[in-house]
Amino acid sequence: MKNYLVTGGCGFIGTNFVRRVMMTQPGWRIINLDALTYAGNYGNICDIDGNGRHEFVKGSILDEALLKRIFQENELSGVIHFAAESHVDRSIWGPAAFVETNINGTFRLLQMSLEFWKSNAVAPDFRFLNVSTDEVYGSLGPTGYFTEATRYDPSSPYSASKAASDHFVRAYHRTFGLPTLITNCSNNYGPYQFPEKLIPLMILNIINEQPLPVYGDGRNVRDWLFVEDHCDALIAVIEKGAVGETYNVGGNEEKTNIAIVNLLCDTLDSRLGRGSGNSCRLIKFVADRPGHDLRYAIDAMKILQELGWSPKFSFAEGISRTIDWYLENTDWVSSVVSGEYQRWMNINYSVRK
Ligand code: NAD
Ligand code: DAU
Repeated sequence: MKNYLVTGGCGFIGTNFVRRVMMTQPGWRIINLDALTYAGNYGNICDIDGNGRHEFVKGSILDEALLKRIFQENELSGVIHFAAESHVDRSIWGPAAFVETNINGTFRLLQMSLEFWKSNAVAPDFRFLNVSTDEVYGSLGPTGYFTEATRYDPSSPYSASKAASDHFVRAYHRTFGLPTLITNCSNNYGPYQFPEKLIPLMILNIINEQPLPVYGDGRNVRDWLFVEDHCDALIAVIEKGAVGETYNVGGNEEKTNIAIVNLLCDTLDSRLGRGSGNSCRLIKFVADRPGHDLRYAIDAMKILQELGWSPKFSFAEGISRTIDWYLENTDWVSSVVSGEYQRWMNINYSVRK
């Protein structure tokens, strides 16, 4: 059995990842360390916790004593590092938490990994995977793609903090030899995504007939990837990726924000038996995000050619599954749209008139 420390395994991608590992990797055991911030939810994984292959630990990646205990008690084959503050708009309102978790937290994990790796107290095939973002590359114009060689040029405090974490990861490989890997992935969507992000926010607001706040002119472009495909890419990188390398991961599904919102309106009008064009009247163009990147698009040839990964889900298939999930999981939705969620909605949207 291989033991992996997964950080942030109760957030959106982390939850999907540990659930996917339970189904597809019978030889893996996961220690899931999550601080359960507003974005983490124990209920996401409680059904698999304690099954012999999944152990939940509530705590922070900033807690050195806790990290030490986890490394001492488990001969780790790797660290798969998801834990982060992940929302760009929150990083504009309060950047300090992003520096603390994304930079200092990653540094603590690297330092602990290095200590145990140097003293041979980890498995011989030990690897540290930093789950990062395409936002480190900044913004594209109307053409071109991000490759692994694109210069880092982050725009938001969030992307700057993720860029810093990537730099530390690379530095720990080059300076100390720690076996690290980095993935830079485009926008994910799917089950368990906290409804502060574009797709789940719009799905819930359409269902509840609330305004649909589109930033700026709605022409910003994102490259969308169904979360299950991202999880499979991460498993491929851990198993087959070359140490010290970076892999871009993307869906090859570029969409403008307004196209997505229109699609969600039409699909939900039809699923909910509402008249055609009913929900589009809720669209409201609001003040833009400061420093809003125009376009992200990933060139994912390296991971295809070297590791054989490509996405299995088209956007049409993935979005249909996502809409179904939010319509079916009303208890989950009720559990996350509590006090903190309302507070955030007021902060972010009351000023976007
Ligand atoms: P998320 O906000 O949904 O989840 C983050 C998780 O980290 C939560 O469970 C939270 O409780 C936990 N966490 C936060 N601070 C912690 C700490 N100090 N110690 C332990 N746990 C802590 O984020 P997500 O969308 O699932 O993203 C996961 C990772 O993937 C992030 O590193 C993000 O930068 C990266 N990423 C996300 C996307 C995307 O589209 N969502 C795309 C590319 C990369
Ligand atoms: O590209 C990967 C990144 O994708 C990840 O690293 C981040 O963690 C993740 O949050 C996501 O960042 P974005 O800023 O692209 O995602 P978000 O869902 O916040 O916004 C997507 C687009 O929709 C963006 O252009 C802003 C716009 N938007 C967003 C919200 C929340 C709106 O127009 N209205 C909204 O209310």
